[in-house]
Amino acid sequence: MEKDPIDRVDARAKVTGTATYASEYKAENVAHGFLVGSTITKGTIKTIDTKAAERAPGVIAVLTYINTPKVPGHIANPDDPSKEPIVNRPLKIFNDNKIAYYDQPVALVIADTYERVRHAATLVKATYEKAEHHTDLDEELGKAKMPAGPDMKDYSRGEEDAYKKAEVSIEVAYDQPIEVHSPMELGSIIARWDADDRLTVYTKTQGVQDTQQSVSDMFKLKKENVTVHAEYIGGSFGMALRTWPYEVAAILGAKKIKRPLKIVIPREQMFTNVGSRPSAVQKIGMGTTKDGKLTGITHEAIAHTSSYEEFTEGIVSISKMLYACPNMNGRYRIVPLNTCTPIWMRGPGEATGSFALECAMDEMAYKLKMDPVEFRRLNHADTDPEKKLPWSTKYLKECYDMGMEKIGWKSRSLEPQRIREGDWYVGYGMGTGVFGSFRWGASVKAIVDNNGQLLLQCSVNDMGPGVATMMTKIASDTMGIPVKQVRIEMGSTGLPPGPTQGGSATTANVGSAVHEVCNDIKVRIAELAGKEGSVFHTSRVHNIKPEDLIYADGYITYSKDPKIRITYAELFRQNNLPQLEITKDSKGGGPNQDKYSMYSFSVHFVKLSVHALTGMVKINKVVSCGDAGTIISAKTAESQMIGGAVGGIGMALMEEIVIDHRYGRFINNNLADYHVPVNADIPEMEVIFINKKDPYTNPMGSKGLGEIALVGMAPAVANAIFNATGKRIRSLPITPDKLI
Ligand code: MOS
Repeated sequence: MEKDPIDRVDARAKVTGTATYASEYKAENVAHGFLVGSTITKGTIKTIDTKAAERAPGVIAVLTYINTPKVPGHIANPDDPSKEPIVNRPLKIFNDNKIAYYDQPVALVIADTYERVRHAATLVKATYEKAEHHTDLDEELGKAKMPAGPDMKDYSRGEEDAYKKAEVSIEVAYDQPIEVHSPMELGSIIARWDADDRLTVYTKTQGVQDTQQSVSDMFKLKKENVTVHAEYIGGSFGMALRTWPYEVAAILGAKKIKRPLKIVIPREQMFTNVGSRPSAVQKIGMGTTKDGKLTGITHEAIAHTSSYEEFTEGIVSISKMLYACPNMNGRYRIVPLNTCTPIWMRGPGEATGSFALECAMDEMAYKLKMDPVEFRRLNHADTDPEKKLPWSTKYLKECYDMGMEKIGWKSRSLEPQRIREGDWYVGYGMGTGVFGSFRWGASVKAIVDNNGQLLLQCSVNDMGPGVATMMTKIASDTMGIPVKQVRIEMGSTGLPPGPTQGGSATTANVGSAVHEVCNDIKVRIAELAGKEGSVFHTSRVHNIKPEDLIYADGYITYSKDPKIRITYAELFRQNNLPQLEITKDSKGGGPNQDKYSMYSFSVHFVKLSVHALTGMVKINKVVSCGDAGTIISAKTAESQMIGGAVGGIGMALMEEIVIDHRYGRFINNNLADYHVPVNADIPEMEVIFINKKDPYTNPMGSKGLGEIALVGMAPAVANAIFNATGKRIRSLPITPDKLI
C-alpha cells in the first residue's frame, strides 16, 4: 500500500451517526407506511377488506388497487397494454388485481407511527383466486426464450460447437440459485409533495438523476420539479439501481394523505420486492489440443426473469474475450418466473459467467494434467479475441505471478486429496475475474473560496466504496493541496449531474471530471496570477504556468521562489471575484474507446480446508490481485477488493434463496436463514494491485474496480474445494451436505 493513504473522508460522519440516510431525514408531520404483501404467487385478488385496518388506532389511509388513482406513466399504451415493450416494464403497483409474485404489495397502510402501522397492516384481509405459478427454473427450462432486448443475440466466431471435434474435450453443466443483495440499509424512502406538481423524495438510490427521471416519467412531472436526495447509502450492491414499486407506493400514499410519508421496507421484503441475482443454469463445452491449446468454447446460459418484465445480463460475455480461442459461441436465454424482476448484483453477468467458465478451465486443466495457472497462461489472449483490438492494458500474467507467490501455490498438488492436516483436507484454487472498464460523462462544479478551500459538487451517489474519498484524493493530487483543503457535496439532484453509481465506473466518470476541473482551476488561477498588478507581475515573474504555482494552505506560491506568494482572498479581490467557480462537463467515451479494448482483470487465489467428516469448508487464506490501472485511494480500494472477495465467498459457500415451489415462497427471507459471510468465516485476506497507469482509459489511468473484486472468486473457491477433496461441485452454493 502507498506510504500515506488517506482515510475515508466521510468515516467520522458515518461512525458518529451524523451522516443522514434516506429514512433519517426530518420531514415535518411525516406519516408511516407499511406494505402488505400477497400471500399467493400468481393469480388475482378476489376481495380485499381494509375496514379493520382503517379503524385501527392512528391509521390515516389504506391504499389498494381499488381506491388508488393510476400512476399516469404506468399506462404506456392505454389502448393495448400487450403492445408495451417487455424490456423495462415495471410492476405497476396498485394498478389492478393481478398477482405476479409472492409478497407483491397489495395494500399500503398509512398511520401516524411505525408501531401502529405495523399492527394495522396485519388487519388487512385479502382473498385470492389462485392460478398456477412457476418458480422452479429447472422445471421451466423448456420455456427458455431469446431475450427481446438488443445485444443479447447468439454470438459466434469460427466454428460453432467446435469443442465436439477437439482432441480433448469436456462438456459440463453448472447451476446457481437466486441470491439477494442483502445490504445493511433497508429500502427506505420519504416522499413529500411540495405542491401538486412538485415532489421531493429522500430515497435509497444509486443514481439520483435516474430516480428523478423515472419518477418524473411515471408521475408526468417536469423533471426539475422532482428533487431527489440520497446523500448516504448503507450498502446496496446493485439493489438500488432502479425505482422500485415501494418507492412508487410512497409517492402515491403521500399524495393521498397530503402529508410526507415514510416507508422503510422490512428485511423480508428486501428478499421479495427489490430484485435479486437471477438464478441460472449454464453449460460449457470446451475443447483443446492434447497439449492444451483451446480450440473451442461453447457457453450457454439460461437465467430467470420475472413474468412481466425482461431482465438480461451478459452471462456468456466473459467466454467471448477472456482466452485466446479461435472458435467460440455463446447462447443466452431467459425464462420468466413468478418472482420480482431481477436486477444487477455484484459483478452482474460476469460473476455468474465466470463461475462456469473458470470452473470449466480448472476441470479441463485437470483432465490435461496441467497446472491450472499454466493452462491459462498457455491460452492467454494477447489481444481481445472478440473485438479484435489490442487491450488498453492487461497485466493478468503479472497477477498470476504475484498471487501464486503469496498464496504459496508451489505447495499445491496437481492431484486432489493429497494434503491432509488432521481431519482436514487442504486445497488450493484460483479463478480469473474480468469486467469492462467504462467511462461515462459527469459534471463537477469546483468552487474555490477566499481561503483557498476547494468545494466539489456533483450529484453522484456512493453506496459505500468511498466516492467522496476518491474525489478528494484526485483533487488533492491534481492541485497538490492537502486533503483538508477539499470538501465534497454530492448525492442529490440540483448539483451538477453525475452518473448513477454502478458498473465499476464511478472513478472513471466522476474522477475524470474532478481531474479536469481541477486542472481548469489551476489554469485560471495562473491566468489571474499573471495579470498586471499581481505580486507575481510586480516581482517580474512572467508567463506563469499552472505547474509553476503551489496552491496549498491558503496561498498561491511561486514554486521557484516561495517568497513570492499571495492569498486566495487577495488574488480574487484584485480580480473582483467573490470566489472562483468552474463547472466541467466531462465527456464519457473518448477516442481511445474504439482503438482499444478496455477491461479490468483480477485473479483470486484461495487456500482452504474441508473437514473430511462434516464437509465443513474453512477458508484459510485469500489473495486477490487486481489489475485496475492506477489505484487512486489505496485504503478504499483495498477495502473494496476485500468486500468484493467476501461477496464471492458468500456466493460460493452460502448465499441461496430457497423456494418452496408448492407455494412459490422464499422460505429463508431473513438474515438468520439467508447466510452471508460473517467475520468468523473470513480469514486473512491479502490484496495486491498492479497499480500501473492505463494510458487510454481516462486522465488518471484508472480502470474499474468494484466488480473484479468479486468476479472469479466463487470459482476459485469451488476449484480449491476440488483440489482439497476431489469433489467437483457444480452447483452453488457449496454447502457441507454436497461434500459428504
Ligand atoms: Mo452494481 S451491481 O454495478 O451496483
